[in-house]
Amino acid sequence: MSQKLTLFLFLIFLANQNHVLTQLDDLYFQGFNHVRNNMSLNGAAEIEKNGLLSLTNNSKSILGHAFYSHQIKFKNSTSGKAFSFSTAFVFAVVPKYPNLGGHGLAFTLSTSNELPGAFPRKYLGLLNTTVAGSFSYHIFSVEFDTHKDYDFFDINDNHVGVNINSMISNKSVPAAYFLLNSEKEELDLTSGNPIQAWVDYDSVKNQLEVRLSPSSTKPIYPILSIDIDLSSILNDSMYVGFSSSTGMLTSTHYVLGWSFSVNGEAKSFSMSSLPSLPETKDLLVLVVCVSVGSTFVIILGIAVSFYLVRKIKDADMIEGWELQVGPRRFSYQELREATRGFREKELLGFGGFGKVYKGTLPNCGTPIAVKRFCHESKQGLREFSTEIASIGRLRHKNLVRLLGWSRLRGELLLVYDFMPNGSLDKYIFEEPKTILKWEQRFKIVKDVASGLLYLHEEWEQTVIHRDIKAGNVLLDSELNGRLGDFGLAKLYERGSNPITTKVVGTLGYLAPELTKTGKPTTSSDVFAFGALLLEVICGRRPIEPKALPEELILVDWVWDKWKSGAILDVVDPRLNGEFDETEAVLLLKLGLMCSNYVPRARPLMRKIVRYLEGEVALPELVAAPDVYDGENADANTDSGDECKDHMYFYPQST
Ligand SMILES: *[C@@H]1O[C@H](CO)[C@@H](O)[C@H](O)[C@H]1NC(C)=O
Ligand SMILES: *[C@@H]1O[C@H](CO)[C@@H](O)[C@H](O)[C@H]1NC(C)=O
Ligand SMILES: *[C@@H]1O[C@H](CO)[C@@H](O)[C@H](O)[C@H]1NC(C)=O
Ligand SMILES: *[C@@H]1O[C@H](CO)[C@@H](O)[C@H](O)[C@H]1NC(C)=O
Ligand SMILES: *[C@@H]1O[C@H](CO)[C@@H](O)[C@H](O)[C@H]1NC(C)=O
Ligand SMILES: *[C@@H]1O[C@H](CO)[C@@H](O)[C@H](O)[C@H]1NC(C)=O
Repeated sequence: MSQKLTLFLFLIFLANQNHVLTQLDDLYFQGFNHVRNNMSLNGAAEIEKNGLLSLTNNSKSILGHAFYSHQIKFKNSTSGKAFSFSTAFVFAVVPKYPNLGGHGLAFTLSTSNELPGAFPRKYLGLLNTTVAGSFSYHIFSVEFDTHKDYDFFDINDNHVGVNINSMISNKSVPAAYFLLNSEKEELDLTSGNPIQAWVDYDSVKNQLEVRLSPSSTKPIYPILSIDIDLSSILNDSMYVGFSSSTGMLTSTHYVLGWSFSVNGEAKSFSMSSLPSLPETKDLLVLVVCVSVGSTFVIILGIAVSFYLVRKIKDADMIEGWELQVGPRRFSYQELREATRGFREKELLGFGGFGKVYKGTLPNCGTPIAVKRFCHESKQGLREFSTEIASIGRLRHKNLVRLLGWSRLRGELLLVYDFMPNGSLDKYIFEEPKTILKWEQRFKIVKDVASGLLYLHEEWEQTVIHRDIKAGNVLLDSELNGRLGDFGLAKLYERGSNPITTKVVGTLGYLAPELTKTGKPTTSSDVFAFGALLLEVICGRRPIEPKALPEELILVDWVWDKWKSGAILDVVDPRLNGEFDETEAVLLLKLGLMCSNYVPRARPLMRKIVRYLEGEVALPELVAAPDVYDGENADANTDSGDECKDHMYFYPQST
């Protein structure tokens, strides 16, 4: 009966402690995006967009705290005995200068989630000079310390320690971990790479163990083990979380994931399932040694400085934005070597935008194509270079991959995958060495459509190609079609005068509205795609000066043949009639639809891909009424309405 009463009183007690978690669900935060409201942060701590918890940034002498916002019960109120607990978390210390980290972070249990009055630097945001060592303050921490503080008898600048209400560790060991075969391996806390840590307290054995590993697997052996009864150290309920600080030397301290459990084992993290760290930055660290002494040293110093200044000027100092770029930055020297000094012999061709050289990367032997631009405006080049960052992240099997780039003064170099079979125009115009078979042409058209669909609709933002033409379709070793040069036309539109925009593109592929508006759109890309379709089938350029007058403009000629019921007459004679008629009609009709004079009447890439895959039948093509009326024309267009069984075609030259 008295037991029942105790239980009753206990429940009342719990009910009154409404800010205390009574029924603790295990915490398991794989990134902190979904638990923004459950973390109380102060100082420099913040949860970044991708869910990374950063405790500090790269500023000097700052601190950051991140605690789970509710207190957790750590003791049996009746017996006063501390509970067992267990935690696993993945952290990364990214120092501003390689191997010079400051100051570290600590897994912390505390009666306060703000730690008012605490100091940064060697105090790790935990304590200050007054409270250090005072026992009324309940702070228990496991520190991952990257700085050697003589005041606190630190063993080195890369250690793990257990601290009780003090910055002086009760026990500490150099950071390391045990492999499965029980061999000990050193671990650099400031490597910038994610490290997983486990802290397990067993209240039966009165033992605390700490483990570390750069991988997902919890090692069998702890790196630090200490006999300790936390019952007298912990208060009934405590906040649990992390504290960190910087000093003269700085690091960004991240926590990528955190799990915690009372009276159970915390779940480990698979390293690959966590938010990724920001791109690591290569930094030039310039160490200046000042030697005062003989004049000789001074003169030598001056000479060296002149040399360095020249070198730095030549290197065209890496600027902040350049470090954000996704694809890698090559050194100019590296690319010069790769292309053997941009030898004429290595020249693959002239693009509209510059010369293209074949090259081989010095270290790995990977063949590359290097596109070399000169630009009249350094500003334009700079602005454009920021766009390389996003262009470089485009990845699709039908796009030529941008591997990296380099910049030297007014010159920009772009590095692409080398495409052994060159560009499509060499296979269709004039006297090609190889005649592509019908199936190959059909496949290439589908490839280009799928690459363009990705640019228009499937990537995170719409990318307008602006210069689709046979010369920009490259063929890889298996003759798959891949679009090249996406987004580059933008550079040339800007020119030196930011107010005027030049129309960039290639005659015959330029949508008629472009000459008026100058504003490229996805539908002007579709127009150019239509021209490409027709030329691949007909084996000639969109405007052919050598042709008969009625055949001069490809699209008009195809349209006339269509009306007279002799559409197959236009198919490339070099195929010798070896082609699939149904497919040919499909492609020609589609080519005409894309070449519509009215931008909104052109199908979207999504629709085009479905037509090509045979998922949707093409609507009937009907000549537009003689008098062109812009508004009525728009009303009759195919804007995605599946039920319409015909569409009007407005030839370009009326
Ligand atoms: C986080 O907070 C929300 C309410 O703000 C609550 O519903 C949820 O249970 C909390 N999650 C954890 C893990 O504490
Ligand atoms: C870093 O954190 C400090 C302290 O919160 C803040 O004042 C500073 O603006 C932050 N710096 C950056 C670059 O975010
Ligand atoms: C707390 O301790 C008492 C007495 O030792 C014990 O009977 C009870 O089961 C404990 N409660 C918990 C939640 O461990
Ligand atoms: C410790 O817990 C008791 C109640 O369990 C509370 O009265 C006291 O204020 C707590 N101590 C601190 C420093 O928060
Ligand atoms: C140290 O922290 C305590 C507790 O928050 C505070 O009262 C005290 O003023 C701080 N001491 C200094 C020197 O800032
Ligand atoms: C270690 O912990 C105990 C309490 O368990 C304490 O008395 C002692 O002063 C601590 N510090 C060191 C340096 O041992």
